[in-house]
Amino acid sequence: MDRIGVVVIGAGVIGRTHIDTLTRMSGLRLAALVDPAPSGRALAESLGVACLPDVAALIDSGLAQAAIVATPNETHLPVSAALLRAGIPVLLEKPVAESLDSARQLIAVADETGVPLLVGHHRRHNPIIRAAHGAIRGGLLGDLVMATVTCSLAKPDDYFQAPWRRSKGAGGPLLINLVHEIDLLRHFFGEIAEVQAIASHARRGFPVEDTAAVCLRFAEGGLATLCISDAAVGPWAWDLTAGENMARFPAHRVPAHHYAGSRAGLSLPDLLLWQPPGAPDWTQELQPRPLPVSHGDPYEAQLVHFADLVRHGGTPRVSARDATANLIVLDAIRAAAETGQRVAVDLSALNREPETAFNSGRGS
Ligand SMILES: NC(=O)c1ccc[n+]([C@@H]2O[C@H](COP(=O)([O-])OP(=O)(O)OC[C@H]3O[C@@H](n4cnc5c(N)ncnc54)[C@H](O)[C@@H]3O)[C@@H](O)[C@H]2O)c1
Repeated sequence: MDRIGVVVIGAGVIGRTHIDTLTRMSGLRLAALVDPAPSGRALAESLGVACLPDVAALIDSGLAQAAIVATPNETHLPVSAALLRAGIPVLLEKPVAESLDSARQLIAVADETGVPLLVGHHRRHNPIIRAAHGAIRGGLLGDLVMATVTCSLAKPDDYFQAPWRRSKGAGGPLLINLVHEIDLLRHFFGEIAEVQAIASHARRGFPVEDTAAVCLRFAEGGLATLCISDAAVGPWAWDLTAGENMARFPAHRVPAHHYAGSRAGLSLPDLLLWQPPGAPDWTQELQPRPLPVSHGDPYEAQLVHFADLVRHGGTPRVSARDATANLIVLDAIRAAAETGQRVAVDLSALNREPETAFNSGRGS
């Protein structure tokens, strides 16, 4: 295979990031777009590639050696299942699906076909995250005692013109944004055992929440709090500090994640390790030390990994099963917010059969 012909399905906000990234890659090329909207056709024309109206037409065209699915959350299952059944490897944007049952159906299709499916939790490909993971899992912090994550993401009103972003089950900052933070926390500290949460839609008045405060307890020990809002102004969010997507977001020089362990603390994305000179003692000044990292674009690194899966197979860095565990945590957070109760995270739900098998084969 020379350069892998990749089709981007859904040429919206993140689809365009993937399209830009593809133009910088040597092993992959943009082969076509799929998007029913006039803006998709106009973009394809400007890029000199074909634009197909739907996945069925794409499969018939034979243009795709691989596909990036960047469509609204509730379409992830039908679009990705059709591609996998046609033997086309998929990089699927997060969240893996809009619901746990859809995610289980997608896992079943991925298992049945054996075609590579990588879920787009792109931060896991970020060298900053890889360095932090090495430090944390290598024991530099000792045991995690507590963590704080903030996500103040004041989105402009026109962001909410797309109806899916306002609706329960498809939009909302828990599913769209907090899923990234949950994914990272699980990656660093292992599975989450229990959650508590308060959610509110008082700022925007949409059916879906705009703000939430969440507490987590990890199975290996340690507590975390997360505060998220798509209506609150502040620089304290991964997206606004990590410099992952400079075409879309500024990179403020403040941390958004704070991890405090039994031996040291770590902030992100600045990767500062805060260690005491001797035994932990709150009267002693902590010396911050930046951990070494070579910066790189996580979207490019994600596509390099995807190309490797397409060419050689292997285990995706973020599988559908792994990404579905994030949805189980989110369901627990929603249940905790609705009931006001603590909710245990039941990962055995991952192994249950889907309530319905996914049968429609053409991604319509
Ligand atoms: N990894 C990230 O950081 C990141 C960032 C933003 C969005 N996302 C995810 O990407 C997905 C898309 O989000 P967005 O903000 O780009 O949405 P968007 O609304 O800007 O774009 C979606 C596009 O998909 C098209 N579309 C809708 N149904 C389609 C179908 N069946 N087939 C082909 N095209 C279809 C629409 O016309 C639109 O152009 C969501 O799942 C979202 O959670 C991920």
